[in-house]
Amino acid sequence: MLLFKDFIQIDKDADTAIYLQVVNALIQQIRRGQLRSGSKLPGSRELAEALSIHRKTIVAAYDELMAQGWIEMIPRKGTFVVQDLPEIKPKKLKQPEPVLPYPSQTIFTIQENRLGSFPVAVIPDPKALVINDGFPDTRLVPTESLLRELRSVGRQTAFRQYHMYGNPEGTDYLRETLANFLRETRGLPISAANAMITRGAQMGIYLTAQLLLKPGDQVVVGESSYFAATLICQQTGAQINRVPVDEYGIDVDSVEQLCKKKRIRLLYVIPHHHHPTTVTLPPERRIRLLELAATYKFAIIEDDYDYDFHYTSNPIQPMTSLDHHGSVIYIGTLSKTLVPAIRVGFIVAPENFIQAVANLRMAIDRQGDSMMEIAIAELYQNGTISRHIRKVVNLYRERRDHFCALMTDQLGDRVSFKIPDGGMAVWTKFTDSDLRQVSAKAATKGLIMSDGQRYNTGSINYNAARLGFASLNLAEQDRAIEIMASCF
Ligand SMILES: Cc1ncc(COP(=O)(O)O)c(C=O)c1O
Repeated sequence: MLLFKDFIQIDKDADTAIYLQVVNALIQQIRRGQLRSGSKLPGSRELAEALSIHRKTIVAAYDELMAQGWIEMIPRKGTFVVQDLPEIKPKKLKQPEPVLPYPSQTIFTIQENRLGSFPVAVIPDPKALVINDGFPDTRLVPTESLLRELRSVGRQTAFRQYHMYGNPEGTDYLRETLANFLRETRGLPISAANAMITRGAQMGIYLTAQLLLKPGDQVVVGESSYFAATLICQQTGAQINRVPVDEYGIDVDSVEQLCKKKRIRLLYVIPHHHHPTTVTLPPERRIRLLELAATYKFAIIEDDYDYDFHYTSNPIQPMTSLDHHGSVIYIGTLSKTLVPAIRVGFIVAPENFIQAVANLRMAIDRQGDSMMEIAIAELYQNGTISRHIRKVVNLYRERRDHFCALMTDQLGDRVSFKIPDGGMAVWTKFTDSDLRQVSAKAATKGLIMSDGQRYNTGSINYNAARLGFASLNLAEQDRAIEIMASCF
């Protein structure tokens, strides 16, 4: 027993679990030949006492060693190092084989340009100062609560069913929870059958476009609009028609004129808050869009990606809450409510659409991440998500005001912007400098910010960018605007 006590050194402060420390020490001894095939190991109680740890820890260690094939339990005799150890002895090659380089190109052609290309996300150094496109502050996420829920989904027998294959629509528990939440907070008169869980809003837009569009179909988007949604529609071969966007959002008269000229199949709109310009579509325009959709029988994608973040008044209820004809596909996400890395979003639509879109999803994604979905449902149920929203809305309002005041004081006429009612970014036009140059110069001074290129459409150069204020605290904003001011 002394021997075991000597070579199994337990460090209670180490990151490695204690039972794994026991496992690793025993494997090392077996590998070194100190513990030979057939050697008897002490009983779990005996070893636990010698190491001053709990017996269950030794049982867990022995279970792990047995699962890995190092030891075996012989009833009424004890635990032994196995006869056939699981190590793979390296075979000697007679002659070293020539190592051929891995090909850098495929032998067959791929039409890279056929699908257009999405802007590549720049992943900056975590310590860098970044003005992003309007993303949440990941430091504020209730990570501990999420991990606690995930751990309990992993451990509790009641949740075992979610470790297996499930439905492409998502787990019923989250669908029901979300339907209740959207009914109570956004006035959507829906049930679980109207909700499908996706991996973010992007998947919702993609599946909807794939389901509805074929080459030559007519799609309406704003000028300018969310570039990824436009690209997704273009990928189907549909034709994009752009209508102006003013300070109240998409221009409905222009939509009507288009409807009179062309057979519109789909309209993509972000009523709350428009991307990239952040403006909010007023109720009258929403109602007129719904009337047009009913008259001309086109579908509307209502992308409500940041509904929770409205600062001046209560958010306007989604168009979906007033849709009595079945025109609107409502798309939402937790990417802004929590963090983008939790790929949970949703589609709300009439039941026939949900069934068809779930069937389509099966082709590319058998189902979502059920364990994460259950953990998220629990966070809705126990109020964590609502509390988090209340907390960050107050904080982001303060950050928005500080950021806008800084821009007014320090950048003056060099930029023009309107304080956004909601969202996480300020749509900022650079009036007398080329934004690409400002952005390049800022990078040399340690500030990463957009050069505005991704918002440009066709021949229009807006020389503008969404400047995300939510992810920077007040001191970081001070530094960022100071650097920006020195770059003109
Ligand atoms: C307008 C808009 N819609 C959809 C998305 C995609 O969100 P998700 O992360 O849920 O896919 C974004 C992402 O920023 C967005 O800005």
